[in-house]
Amino acid sequence: MELAEKCLVLGVTGGIAAYKAAELVRLLVREGASVQVVMTEAATHFVTPVTFQALSGRPVFTDQWDPRIANNMAHIELSRTADALLIAPASADCLAKLANGLADDLLTTMVLARDCALHVAPAMNRQMWENPATIRNLATLRADGVNIFGPACGDQACGETGPGRMLEPEEILGEVISHFQPKHLAGKRLLLTAGPTFEAIDPVRGITNLSTGKMGYAIARAAREAGAQVTLVSGPVALSCPPGVKRIAVTSALEMHAEVHRQIAGNDVFVAVAAVADYRPARPLDQKIKKGAQTQPPAIELRQNPDILGDIAALPQPPLCVGFAAESERLAEYAESKRRSKRIPLIVGNLIADGFGGEQNTLTLFDDDGQHPLPPAPKIALARLLVARIAALLEKR
Ligand code: PMT
Repeated sequence: MELAEKCLVLGVTGGIAAYKAAELVRLLVREGASVQVVMTEAATHFVTPVTFQALSGRPVFTDQWDPRIANNMAHIELSRTADALLIAPASADCLAKLANGLADDLLTTMVLARDCALHVAPAMNRQMWENPATIRNLATLRADGVNIFGPACGDQACGETGPGRMLEPEEILGEVISHFQPKHLAGKRLLLTAGPTFEAIDPVRGITNLSTGKMGYAIARAAREAGAQVTLVSGPVALSCPPGVKRIAVTSALEMHAEVHRQIAGNDVFVAVAAVADYRPARPLDQKIKKGAQTQPPAIELRQNPDILGDIAALPQPPLCVGFAAESERLAEYAESKRRSKRIPLIVGNLIADGFGGEQNTLTLFDDDGQHPLPPAPKIALARLLVARIAALLEKR
């Protein structure tokens, strides 16, 4: 229930993506939010108010002269209890009105009268999205502090393909939850590593592992949500960079080591989530190894990689260092021994069966006060708990 006790006004404007707003209401309500839907007249041509009333459990408003509001000031009455106003889908026409402060219907009047955050999820044809007028309007809205969610790129209802698709309801929900997170890392800088490393044997083969980067990317996202300036040094993964995070892509442990040392100055926190290969082939080959006629398989001589976290923790004035430990057994014993050998205040333990690859994880924090198991949860929820713990440790420093 990430949105328990939150009140949202959801504005729906005219566009085919209005049908997705119905699912969005369902998701917001499932997370505990009270949702008050306000529709423009155009939106009612795509989905009826009855659909939103059924899903939100509240009457829907479409008219600023609605007689159900006793003092006839619907724009004030409906917006005063709101923690945020979200418009999804937001048509090009709606964005133009908002950018110019027009107030010619209930929704746009509410936007002007609000005293809470405004988020918009644009949805329109790709030409409309790329029109200079829309680009100008978006720049104005951004400068006014409006949060723009998306849009995505892809197939459009008109049959064209390009930017302008509204984000999926799940993605919009994620953005809304992000914006409600406490800003306990405001003004802090956080550097982290994530994903696997890849140690080349020859041009097509290498040593790597099953890390997908999901845990590290979730922490990058949670730290950004909490107000930190985040730099993510990432091994090869198939994830997109969380919004607002600076990502530097690397491949091998040596590259990750060098990049972390280039970036570390000025950071308050270093979180090592990457599954770094402990060893690399001593002499990677320029040409592909051929099977040839030899009877014995070729031997690969290995050389130890530098310990990135250990080296950062050993700096004369290290940032707050947080490590991870993925173990197949004896989690507490091995995690705690890594924490001590690397001389770091906090290590996060997870079993390999829980941590690698999946959307969920089960973490235990190990620090000077002992061990603190966290309940199994999605990686982003655990990342937010970890970020809160990091903020508390920073306060004590
Ligand atoms: O990416 P996912 O699929 O979401 O999976 C997440 C994860 C399981 C990879 C992640 O939660 C995790 O546990 N990462 C650490 C993996 C591990 O066990 O690392 P390690 O025991 O080899 O190293 C201990 C710590 O030292 C880690 O913080 C590691 O980043 C760091 N280290 C290790 C070796 C090295 N050469 N340099 C390092 O910085």
